[in-house]
Amino acid sequence: MSQEEGSLEARLEEQETFEPPESFVEQANVADPDIYDEFANNWPDCWERAANLLSWDEPYDEMLVDDDAPFYEWFTGGKLNASYNCLDRHVEEGAKNRAAIKWEGELGETRTYTYGDLLHEVEAFAATLRELGVEEDDVVTLYMPMIPELPIAMLACARIGAPHSVVFAGFSADALATRMNSADSEYLVTCDGYYRRGDALDHLSKTEEGLEGVDHDVSDVVVVDRLGDDLEHSLGERQHDYDELVDEHAGASVDPVSRDAEDMLFLMYTSGTTGKPKGVKHTTGGYLAYTAWTSHAVLDLKPADTYWCSADIGWITGHSYIVYGPLALGTTTMMYEGTPDYPEKDRLWEIVEKNQVDVFYTAPTAIRAFMKWGTEYPEKHDLSSLRLLGTVGEPINPRAWKWYYQHIGNEECPIVDTWWQTETGGMMITTLPAINTMKPGSAGPPLPGISAKVVDSQGEEVDAGEAGYVTVDKPWPGMLRTLYDNDERFVEEYWEEYSDPDADEWVYFPEDGAKLDDDGYITILGRVDDVINVSGHRLGTMEIESAVVGVEGIAEAAVVGGDHDVKGEAVYVYAIPEEGYEDQEADLREAAEEAVLESIGPIARPEEIVFTPELPKTRSGKIMRRLLEDIASGNELGNTSTLRNPDVVEDIADQVGAD
Ligand code: PRX
Repeated sequence: MSQEEGSLEARLEEQETFEPPESFVEQANVADPDIYDEFANNWPDCWERAANLLSWDEPYDEMLVDDDAPFYEWFTGGKLNASYNCLDRHVEEGAKNRAAIKWEGELGETRTYTYGDLLHEVEAFAATLRELGVEEDDVVTLYMPMIPELPIAMLACARIGAPHSVVFAGFSADALATRMNSADSEYLVTCDGYYRRGDALDHLSKTEEGLEGVDHDVSDVVVVDRLGDDLEHSLGERQHDYDELVDEHAGASVDPVSRDAEDMLFLMYTSGTTGKPKGVKHTTGGYLAYTAWTSHAVLDLKPADTYWCSADIGWITGHSYIVYGPLALGTTTMMYEGTPDYPEKDRLWEIVEKNQVDVFYTAPTAIRAFMKWGTEYPEKHDLSSLRLLGTVGEPINPRAWKWYYQHIGNEECPIVDTWWQTETGGMMITTLPAINTMKPGSAGPPLPGISAKVVDSQGEEVDAGEAGYVTVDKPWPGMLRTLYDNDERFVEEYWEEYSDPDADEWVYFPEDGAKLDDDGYITILGRVDDVINVSGHRLGTMEIESAVVGVEGIAEAAVVGGDHDVKGEAVYVYAIPEEGYEDQEADLREAAEEAVLESIGPIARPEEIVFTPELPKTRSGKIMRRLLEDIASGNELGNTSTLRNPDVVEDIADQVGAD
């Protein structure tokens, strides 16, 4: 590092607040600070601003219906189609030749779909789905990696009113089966494989294995030939070749089905506190309006922009901010298939430079990895096309924030640290990039119209400087409507903690801890339930635990998150061997790891698996998870004298990080 750079780092280290650059403010979509009052004084009608970003087949009669809270309805009576909003209307407005999706494969091949091309592809695939028998409201499962056929399939589903359920390609065969079973999904779109660090991964065998676990008839499986070699036809009659079907239907015209605003657009499974993933239901009007609005106001997207969110479409971030939000606004959205360090650690910056990316949105985990790799990689590239940077998925530490600001944004780009969840559909707490002062590490105030508060365990708002829990006491258009087929669990999981049903007061509880400051900024402290956040991805400890205790020879297990300097959190497993298996730790460890990979996937791979004759328990027999977390994170261990078995603690702590 040069001396000049060194002093720059030192200056930034001291600096606690950052103002939006004038050059950014001048061109921003939303730059008037009055927007907060405008929304507050005109709630809920303020959401008209979001609805007006869409084209409606029929206008809505009511903004919000709250008679049956917390089963809220937004834009009631309105009709629209999401694929029409993301495609046709832009073509009709003359943007046929504007790039809609720019895709880059890991090996370097590229594909660009203009809005015109994308519309044709989507129509051809929509016609295909129809021919296969897919009807309105049938759930179509998409088990696909980052290839253009994934957003094409999503939009084709949306076009014919069939909700999609995308299963992250990195998830295991079991995870696919669980999700297809839960949604009674009879149709699957998948592919033969994809590339990771130069290797072709076999996705078809995993699909095949997953299908074996599906408890109902899956009538059709459409397979994209990503790898370009001869496709195996291992799934029998029900297997179809994507390219063949789309060629047959090339030129088809499929009218977008007019959907009710409250009709389901998609299902997305996410981890909760039990072993069973939750099917979060999002609707057509509210979700699309909300993602379009937040893409406009927070990401500042404009039709002329090239925008890149480096998430995977298999997670909510990709749904909202690779596909629906950006395409609803007519922006060019980038997709990259592979890893950021292949073939070199400058791959992302090469893509930014080559495509003149204007807005870049990524996860703190990625930023921490970039920091570790060093500044030489971004320095190799001209990143001056960038105007705005964003982060999502986990808290960002101020050091990583400042590194991003300096080395990627060249101190010229505002950063939005956006807090939200699968359930919220879109961003909830973040600065507006042209309006608010940025404070590294703090997400910011709630967005206009979003009534997020930090409260104590009684539901009273905490004073500035204090910590508590995030709650949201007014509904918003992008919110989940329910959990698929499980209204009861929906109420229990999100509304029971802080609501007062007798007074008809409903408060949404996202299960995050947070701190409030004097300016009303919210710093997110992390989950307060048994969900851990690995590299910005949500994993349920119970799901992992049930995989581990399924191993023969393991009697009991506790899974917790421990601090990790790149991933944010990592998975730690503490397990008790069954009698007679005490001397087989190496085999048990291997079997436990295998079980986790099989039931969830590599993302949940444990950092450490520690065997112990006992787990630390309170006198009433509850496992002391906090203590196990402290051990995993290498924290000072407080008083353990209230435990039934304090001696075990030291024994476990000695083992963690021992190798
Ligand atoms: O704990 C919060 C964390 O991620 C959780 C939501 O995870 P998921 O539904 O998978 O969605 C991730 C992408 C939106 C939240 O409950 N989280 C998300 N964004 C932030 C965050 N924590 C701190 N700061 C953020 N910006």
